[in-house]
Amino acid sequence: MHGYLCIGIYLLQALTCVSASPSRNSQPLDIRLFHSLNRIGLPVVSPDATKVLFTQARYIHDDNNSETFINVVDLAGEIEQLTPAKGGETYGNPLWFDKETIGFLHKNKLYRRGLDEANATTVYSPVIDISSVSYRPGRLVFVASVYPNATLVQTKDLAAVKKRDSALIYDNIWVRHWDEWMSLRKPTLFSVKLEDWKVVGKETNLLQNLPAFHDPLLRWSLDEHTVDRQGRNAAFTVRTPEDGQSWTTNVGVYTVPVDGADKPRLLSSGIEGISSAPAFSADGRWLAWLQIKESAYESGQKRIYVGDLVSGKVAAVAHDWDRSPQSLVWSQDGISLYAVVADSGNNNVYVVDVESGRRKPLTDTGSASAVRLLGKDLVLLQSNTDSPVDIHRLDISTGERHALTAVNQKALKNVYIGSAEDFSFTGARGDQVHGWLVKPPSFDPSKQYPLACLIHGGPQQCNTHSFGHSQWNPNVYASAGFIAVQINFHGSSSYGQNFTDSIQQQWGGYPYEDLMKGLDYLLSEHGFIDGNRMVALGASYGGYMVNWINAQTTRFRALVSHDGMFSVPSFWYSTEELWFPEHDFGGVPFDPNVRPHYELFNPERCAANFSTPTLFIHGANDFRLTADQSLAPFTLLRRKGIPARLMFFPDENHWTSRTANSVRWYTEVLRWISAFTNTTLPYALD
Ligand SMILES: *[C@@H]1O[C@H](CO)[C@@H](O)[C@H](O)[C@H]1NC(C)=O
Ligand SMILES: *[C@@H]1O[C@H](CO)[C@@H](O)[C@H](O)[C@H]1NC(C)=O
Ligand SMILES: *[C@@H]1O[C@H](CO)[C@@H](O)[C@H](O)[C@H]1NC(C)=O
Ligand SMILES: *[C@@H]1O[C@H](CO)[C@@H](O)[C@H](O)[C@H]1NC(C)=O
Ligand SMILES: *[C@@H]1O[C@H](CO)[C@@H](O)[C@H](O)[C@H]1NC(C)=O
Ligand SMILES: *[C@@H]1O[C@H](CO)[C@@H](O)[C@H](O)[C@H]1NC(C)=O
Repeated sequence: MHGYLCIGIYLLQALTCVSASPSRNSQPLDIRLFHSLNRIGLPVVSPDATKVLFTQARYIHDDNNSETFINVVDLAGEIEQLTPAKGGETYGNPLWFDKETIGFLHKNKLYRRGLDEANATTVYSPVIDISSVSYRPGRLVFVASVYPNATLVQTKDLAAVKKRDSALIYDNIWVRHWDEWMSLRKPTLFSVKLEDWKVVGKETNLLQNLPAFHDPLLRWSLDEHTVDRQGRNAAFTVRTPEDGQSWTTNVGVYTVPVDGADKPRLLSSGIEGISSAPAFSADGRWLAWLQIKESAYESGQKRIYVGDLVSGKVAAVAHDWDRSPQSLVWSQDGISLYAVVADSGNNNVYVVDVESGRRKPLTDTGSASAVRLLGKDLVLLQSNTDSPVDIHRLDISTGERHALTAVNQKALKNVYIGSAEDFSFTGARGDQVHGWLVKPPSFDPSKQYPLACLIHGGPQQCNTHSFGHSQWNPNVYASAGFIAVQINFHGSSSYGQNFTDSIQQQWGGYPYEDLMKGLDYLLSEHGFIDGNRMVALGASYGGYMVNWINAQTTRFRALVSHDGMFSVPSFWYSTEELWFPEHDFGGVPFDPNVRPHYELFNPERCAANFSTPTLFIHGANDFRLTADQSLAPFTLLRRKGIPARLMFFPDENHWTSRTANSVRWYTEVLRWISAFTNTTLPYALD
């Protein structure tokens, strides 16, 4: 289990080794290979900044299960595997107890292991599931889901009580969220004392004294709460007590002493909207966070605030910046913040001077995330369309970036991974609209290829220059023989707030115009696209747009609509986050003045026009857009005698999370779009 060494790898820039020329790398990125790629978790830097822990997960198709294990990499790129790789088992939550000793969670027990020791010893065996564990000298801080004010033991006992019936009864409309029906159990922040590497005494509920604590949206992760280095205070974001409604979004940022000696203190007092991404300075005195100022809007501009924990004073940083940071990390000296910022279809790292708000980019292409301090430098996760996620080190003084890992280098050795080519055209409102295009293997410009238009969800998100493991990786479509096209239509993030906000009351307007104009532009520029063999695919908002396309044009041979929307008014009645339609459609659908906004771009209003063969896909536990939204247009097309197929997942939510389901998803989608475009796939589908 230890001593498994990889050959040291220290590569310059973005792993050019996996994106070599198509002629040499002609093996397609097929569905099985794509799902067997290694996925890297968040980097965890050792206290002496010489090593980085990370999880590595992979799916083993023949065994029908996944394994997640922990590795350590040093600054020369030498990797050692620290826990076993066992099918169906997860070794997660890697942390450092000191520079020679690590900790991890396995089967809900926290273990401790010296880097040079063979065996791990148990530190903590909690009675209910815990997550997001962090260690500070003498104390663990973690998240557990408990009944109001109950201890872990009381929660375990209450959860074990058997009822004869299964009724859930509600008096308020916040009855479910994402894929869960509400229960009284809520994720809560706890701390517990450690002595001689054993837990002593009872766990302290750090939220116990938060008045009327009510946040059905609580989903703690390592990024949503944080503990200062000294182990004095924790910071977290949670809905403010007076604001528990499904049509509002006021989320405050709080700090609380980790020993539970005092009650949580609201630092963002007087500021409405969603707070996120709290980050302590190295000395624990300052807390930076991100804030959307509008209430009841989840895609407003995120701005940086810095709070002084001593005086309670709060200052605005760089509020003139027309970009939304997504995460923050303080520099060691507390002079600047490192922010990941969605920027014109990339996720770049910026350094922001706290005093002046001046900022400059440290990366300018691809997709960065999970930035961590490594002494004076940074480590981060980095990918782009032609290279999967790896851990990179960014030298602050020179701006140079090196990959420390290359976990998929071997698997992708002879595989074609196309680069993303970007293009721009004049779209709706006369604005410039940006997109990405990926070509198939052995591309020959004198031939004609079918085109797959991949439409992103959100809608206030964007297609980034990144390598994703979800259903929308353009390279899987390119390897199947399609020109893969992604257009960042009006409403997309990363092009400034005006561009993002412009989709309000324009759902089927500007974005539809952009998509059609973008395809017209590509057809006029490139002879290699067969305009008679185009398909369009999308999920969530993308699935809505596919349904809208079905009502507006016959230019596509086939469509794929995943977790989409068919009836805009009925969506308001059944979704859980009411602020979302109320913001984008300008109010409630039973207000006669607002109703027209719900009808204007409502695909159901145009049902008579639907005529393109469509594969509909939906998950039973999708409470954002319920399964009726796909059942209805499926019924419509089949009743009209038009080819349609419904693929239903009884165990999925708004995403396709199980890898076996994702394999089936891609299989059926490629089967559908290749059949209607007469495309011969370069490999056999199961
Ligand atoms: C594959 O794994 C899933 C999830 O663990 C399980 O529900 C399913 O029965 C398994 N199928 C087979 C054929 O082993
Ligand atoms: C480590 O664990 C294995 C299996 O549980 C045991 O056989 C071995 O003696 C242990 N080694 C040490 C050094 O404790
Ligand atoms: C939890 O305890 C606090 C402090 O004793 C109290 O103010 C609060 O009302 C309790 N909450 C519930 C749901 O019982
Ligand atoms: C947003 O852009 C549009 C089109 O360029 C312009 O008409 C409008 O005034 C802009 N709005 C803001 C708030 O800048
Ligand atoms: C039906 O499609 C035509 C174009 O093919 C479009 O002009 C018309 O507006 C559509 N009908 C509705 C109700 O949207
Ligand atoms: C596919 O091939 C069939 C039979 O040759 C032909 O009738 C049909 O028009 C073709 N479809 C497309 C989209 O090229």
